[in-house]
Amino acid sequence: MFGAKGIKIPAMDIVHLNGQLLAADKAKISVFDRGFLFGDSIYEVIPFYQGKGFRLIEHIQRLEHSLRAIQIRTDIDWQLLLDNLVTANGGGNLSVYLQVSRGASEERSHQYDADLTPTVFACCKPIKDIYADGADSVEGIAAIVTADLRWRRCDIKATGLLPNILVLQQARQAGAAEAILIRDGILTEGASSNLFMVENGVIYTPKSSSEILGGVTRELLLQLADEQGIPCLQVDIEYSRLLTADEVWISSSTRAIVPVLSIDGQKIADGNKGRLWQQMFERFIQLQHRMMHG
Ligand code: PDD
Repeated sequence: MFGAKGIKIPAMDIVHLNGQLLAADKAKISVFDRGFLFGDSIYEVIPFYQGKGFRLIEHIQRLEHSLRAIQIRTDIDWQLLLDNLVTANGGGNLSVYLQVSRGASEERSHQYDADLTPTVFACCKPIKDIYADGADSVEGIAAIVTADLRWRRCDIKATGLLPNILVLQQARQAGAAEAILIRDGILTEGASSNLFMVENGVIYTPKSSSEILGGVTRELLLQLADEQGIPCLQVDIEYSRLLTADEVWISSSTRAIVPVLSIDGQKIADGNKGRLWQQMFERFIQLQHRMMHG
């Protein structure tokens, strides 16, 4: 792997494959792997700061939910696997990608044998510590709203991300950084984030359901809002309501909470980062600091 200036970063070359730590270019999987052929696999993305997993337990719980939902059984110690990988890559600020596929069959067939051995792969990449430079350094983004063409089990963090990839490309072509999805007139979430809006001091977010991912950052936000006595309601949100909101945010593990300053070219409120966003972001910074320094 190479850094921004083409400088080799050797530590990042270490990946986990099926119980082994090895150089990325030595890691090989079968062309009959069902993850490759069918997208028959699930994944997680977990941020580590100074070598420590942020909301690690929650990510592992969601991983186990995804595995159960598609009936993959393993007895792997996920925490140990992840800690060993991060240590092998020198610790620091890393985002870990972990994928588990149903495994490789002897031939391509939609049906699978229940006794397949899952393929487990994990790798790291360096990330910026989003919390280190404070709220002022966070830039708001533009978003588009477009049709949610995904399947109806978005609570499973499955690797079949073609709809997400296509809408994100559509967003980029419109000069935006995220696509917010809408199904039957109701907003669901972003292509790779959850959605929040603020109206008269109240935070609103789409209801938990199998139509959205149970975001780890979303859960944390709900918890932190509750602790501060800020009302936060899970409701159906329509497009017109989003456009007249006082603030709109997206959340994800790799981006924390990001203010959305315009949607489909229309400014949200005065087009600046909002007061409640700032307050919530500062709570995130405190929490991350506590996690890293005890
Ligand atoms: N995605 N919704 C979708 C569709 C997502 O892909 C993600 C995160 C989220 C936010 O979940 P969390 O707060 O647990 O990261 C919501 C990751 C970052 C990805 O696919 O890379």
